[in-house]
Amino acid sequence: MNKHIDLRSDTVTKPSADMLDAVRHTDLSKVGDDVFGEDELTNEFEHEVAELFGKEAGLFVPSGTMANQLAIKVNTSEGDEVICETGAHIANYETSAPAMLSRVQLKTIDGENGILKAEQISDAIRPSADWYPRTSLVALENTHNRAGGTVYPIAEIERIAELCKSKKLRLHLDGARLWNACVATGLKPKDYAQHFDTVSVCFSKGLGAPIGSMILGTKADIQRARRYRKMWGGGMRQIGVVVAMAKVALEKNYDRLAIDHQHAKALAQAFEANPKFQVNSAHVQTNIVAVDVAPSRQSENEIVEQFKQQGVLISSIKKNFIRLVTHLGVSNQEIQTVCKLIQNI
Ligand SMILES: Cc1ncc(COP(=O)(O)O)c(C=O)c1O
Repeated sequence: MNKHIDLRSDTVTKPSADMLDAVRHTDLSKVGDDVFGEDELTNEFEHEVAELFGKEAGLFVPSGTMANQLAIKVNTSEGDEVICETGAHIANYETSAPAMLSRVQLKTIDGENGILKAEQISDAIRPSADWYPRTSLVALENTHNRAGGTVYPIAEIERIAELCKSKKLRLHLDGARLWNACVATGLKPKDYAQHFDTVSVCFSKGLGAPIGSMILGTKADIQRARRYRKMWGGGMRQIGVVVAMAKVALEKNYDRLAIDHQHAKALAQAFEANPKFQVNSAHVQTNIVAVDVAPSRQSENEIVEQFKQQGVLISSIKKNFIRLVTHLGVSNQEIQTVCKLIQNI
């Protein structure tokens, strides 16, 4: 695998020397059993990230999926309906967990580049009647993975938050890549988080940690999430050593996401210059490039295979679409190599 340039996802990164040093030098007097709430390093980190997001509390969890599902659990009751965008991660890549774990159904609506407008959400809210599901939660995704790393406009988030408040709906943000949105816009995590009841974030995507996500919200919601995390087998013990790596990821790799964004733009421009592909590089805002391969008259899987033959791993995301994701494990020189390949394919 190592000889390949791996652009399938920003989750393929390996822990850096800094991260491993942080594990080696962990202050063991502060490490304890986190199920007992006795891992001081975890408690401190949860507190620190909650402050960064202007939330009362945070809970460190193994994955973004668990963070999202805990959010759905604490924001809904059984039989409720959750509104989200058609391409949302919770609707496509979380193994029907909302149905299995929270016994809710999803109402998916087509957005433009993954972005739903407040009016669309308003139209989808169920009237009150015995035969309708009860709409209780709206879940947004920023950046939007399947749509190609698109950034949710803050003005639209404000309008949606206002609508949710007026309709007494909860609002969750799948912010697995909110860091990328922040770097792209110059906004702070707090600027986004203030509009949401719960937010999930990942340290294991562009920030490069090997493990770790967090759900953020009120103390009461996080206390409930903590109980479900244990129920679902996500209670962890001496996780100060894992948290140590997530902390390094947040401190050292946040600002450098701008480099990944430049790399993604360069890849998009290379695709734009080849008539076999269709992409608007102006729409590439962060570290994901989604490309329409229909003009090549080849399937997305055939294109993926061609890249693989040339030593570059990419993925197909849906019919006619391939996806490339830049991350800290791919150098500028490797991006130039891939750009040349794109031009010649
Ligand atoms: C937008 C989004 N949300 C949630 C997740 C889930 O994260 P994990 O793979 O850690 O469960 C992902 C994973 O790629 C994602 O892209």
